[in-house]
Parts: sequence; structure tokens; C-alpha cells
Amino acid sequence: MRIYIDSANTKQIAHLNEYFPIAGVTTNPSIIVKENRPYLELLKEIRSIIGDQKELFVQTIGSTAEEIVKEAKYIRSQLTGNVIIKIPVIKEGIKAIQLLDSENIQTLATTVYTSFQAYVAAMSGAKYVAPYVNRIDNLTGNGVNVVAEIAKLFSHSELSCEILAASFKNVQQVHDVCLAGAQTVTVAPELIEKFIAFPSTESDVAEFKRQWENGIGSSSLYS
Ligand code: E4P
Repeated sequence: MRIYIDSANTKQIAHLNEYFPIAGVTTNPSIIVKENRPYLELLKEIRSIIGDQKELFVQTIGSTAEEIVKEAKYIRSQLTGNVIIKIPVIKEGIKAIQLLDSENIQTLATTVYTSFQAYVAAMSGAKYVAPYVNRIDNLTGNGVNVVAEIAKLFSHSELSCEILAASFKNVQQVHDVCLAGAQTVTVAPELIEKFIAFPSTESDVAEFKRQWENGIGSSSLYS
């Protein structure tokens, strides 16, 4: 599994990038607007935090394939490093994914609610598809099942497109999509912190330390 940070908050990105095995950062218009800053300046700062190798995902807002392609090229001209263009799976988006693929520009098909949307996007040349797990659950669908279906469709067709599962509200959903076949996940900072937070671990560590201090008479390994 590869973990991406689903946020544009530079403080949180810097912190998580220091502590966790982070593969990159995903953004969308809502996430960027929340930071209330000029967006290119913000994206450049994120790039400087994560370096040029890790993937940075930026979403287009155009309504036609031509607008989307133009935006994709503009974003790439403004940012250094590994930039992936997020494109919604509307009809114009599917056309744009094909046009960009023909120019070797990597894309992620986003706002995916059904396995067939993902299938068509992958056949169009998308490098990633992003099923919206929690938003599917909120519609009384089953986000994890959609991920499992996508994984099955991709493996039957030998498509190299990867599933970057998105939209999570709890760690259980993240855990379940990994078992269902998602190679990558994008998760909000608060939830990434919870991946390893567990009360029993905290109390075990405190107890080891207490016993060591009592038995050895020192709070470190140095004599
Ligand atoms: C990421 O690519 C998506 O835009 C994001 O995960 C959506 O998450 P939300 O449903 O919590 O807004």
C-alpha cells in the first residue's frame, strides 16, 4: 500500500512527511480553497516540502476536454516534479484523459462512484482511479465493494491502472479497501495519525519504561 496525504495544509503535510512513509499529496478544489491562499504559491510550497520525486495531485475545473487539457498543461508548466492531473469522470473528462495520455501526461480519474466509471477511465489511459469510499457509503452504497469490483475488473483485463481509494471517515474503511485490492489510499491527516494510535501500545511502552527505570535505575540504555 502507498499512503497519500489528502490535504493542502502545509503544516500537517510537513509533519506527516517527517514521520510516515508518505508517497505524495492529493488535493481537490475544496481542499485548496480551505487554505485561503493563492493556490499556485500553496502548491509550490507543498512541492518544496515533499520534494520533486513524490507525486502531487492537482485537480482541473474545466467543463470541456479542451479546457481540461489546457489547465493540465498550465499546472504542469507551473510546478516542478512529479505532477498527476486529477480529472473528474464526466464525459469530457474521459476525452481529456485520452488526449493527455496520448501526450504521456499522467492522470487520475476522480469522483468515481461506480466500478464501471473506473473501468472506462482505466481503458482511456488513466494512471489511477479514485473511488470515493465514504461518499458511496453515504448514498447507502458499499464503497469497499466498489473497490473490490474495480480490482477484479482491472485484473481480468490486465489493466495497469491503480486504485487510489479516497474519501474516508474512519480507519476501518481504509483497512477494508486495502484488503479489497486498493494499491494506494489518500487519507486526511487526522486519520493517518490514527493508523498507529492504539491505547494498549501506549500503556505497554510506558510499562516497559517504568520497569526498566525501576530495575536498572536509569531512564536510558546508556550506562
Ligand atoms: C480525493 O481525491 C478526494 O477528493 C477526497 O478524498 C474526497 O474526500 P471527502 O469525501 O472526505 O471530501
